[in-house]
Amino acid sequence: MTRRALNDAVTTAGVDAARRAGGRRMRAVVLDAPGPVEALHLRELPVPRPEPGWVLISVKAFGLNRSELHTRLGLAEGMTYPRVLGIEATGVVASCPGGELAPGQQVVALLGGMGRRFDGGYAEYTCVPVSQVIAFHSDLPWSTLGAVPEMLQTAYGSLTVGLDVRPGQTLLVRGGTSSVGMTATILAKRMGLRVLATTRNPDSVDLLTSVGVDHVLIDDGPLADRVRSLAPGGVDAALDLVGTPTLPDCLRATRVHGVVCMSGMLSNQWTLPDFYPTGDIPSGVRLTGYSGEASDLPAPVLQEFLDAVAAGDVTVPIGRIFQLDEIREAHRLMEENAAGGKIVVLTGRGGTS
Ligand SMILES: NC(=O)c1ccc[n+]([C@@H]2O[C@H](COP(=O)([O-])OP(=O)(O)OC[C@H]3O[C@@H](n4cnc5c(N)ncnc54)[C@H](OP(=O)(O)O)[C@@H]3O)[C@@H](O)[C@H]2O)c1
Repeated sequence: MTRRALNDAVTTAGVDAARRAGGRRMRAVVLDAPGPVEALHLRELPVPRPEPGWVLISVKAFGLNRSELHTRLGLAEGMTYPRVLGIEATGVVASCPGGELAPGQQVVALLGGMGRRFDGGYAEYTCVPVSQVIAFHSDLPWSTLGAVPEMLQTAYGSLTVGLDVRPGQTLLVRGGTSSVGMTATILAKRMGLRVLATTRNPDSVDLLTSVGVDHVLIDDGPLADRVRSLAPGGVDAALDLVGTPTLPDCLRATRVHGVVCMSGMLSNQWTLPDFYPTGDIPSGVRLTGYSGEASDLPAPVLQEFLDAVAAGDVTVPIGRIFQLDEIREAHRLMEENAAGGKIVVLTGRGGTS
């Protein structure tokens, strides 16, 4: 029996056991082992049963993340398989044995081992610790709500914890067309900053301008001199989402006592060989990193953002919306860097939007 057939047989046995026990079933996307998009399998699994301290969420939508691409490509550490992927999910509470949340409450869930140490959000139901869940109220469509949690958490945390930006400052976003990069621009503009952002693709200038970028820079090599011609002395803050290949250039583009925060690694490179701080970091420039958790997204920040979207004051940078059975196409689009914003998948449990 092949490994895949074996896994399917194991899964079917689990479903049969659940059926005998009167358990409900759900559709979920399972990764048995790293591989191409064909390694993602839509299967029937038993609906998980929450223990006290955990929440069963009826997932309406979930966003796709590079972290799941890394997992599928075999670049993530600490994984066990088979695994339902997904480091975030958006939906309503189905049950919560500890009573911390009421059934029907709208929630997002993110991180804390979701889709890595335990099964995640690529499913009609997901079961997560209460500590990973944030409640909200909104009439926005699930396709919009599903785009928000991880994207907002990363952009908000990078600007506040990572960079500590202030109104009136100038921010450079390296990897500007990424969903995190565009959300960082949107938040920074609301906070009163001037934003410079990069793309490698000249066709994406209008996309960046549409989310509020003041100066678009085509990322075709070192940019520090071009940045300094727009921000004499260097920018106050730089958010590097591309990774270590661009980090030295971001440091050179930043003023004395300005801050560079590395939050992403779109280049799939996140270490610096032979890092020599005294030589590689310009005198007086500050270097930080940001790697967030659910607790880094305060509930009022999430609610205020959703209310601003509902009021028409903020746009959510959504690239494409897929259905659960289109998960392979969605992952292919992410791998091709062709979405132009956040990729959202609807499970079908919340209607068509
Ligand atoms: N620290 C955290 O807590 C945290 C949380 C979530 C995500 N992240 C990280 O944040 C980054 C952005 O995530 P995302 O989901 O927003 O990404 P995304 O939307 O999938 O980003 C797509 C964009 O990335 C750019 N890109 C891809 N490869 C690149 C490369 N080698 N060099 C430069 N640009 C490249 C492309 O822009 P152009 O073609 O326009 O140049 C493309 O439009 C990722 O590295 C992700 O892992 C970090």
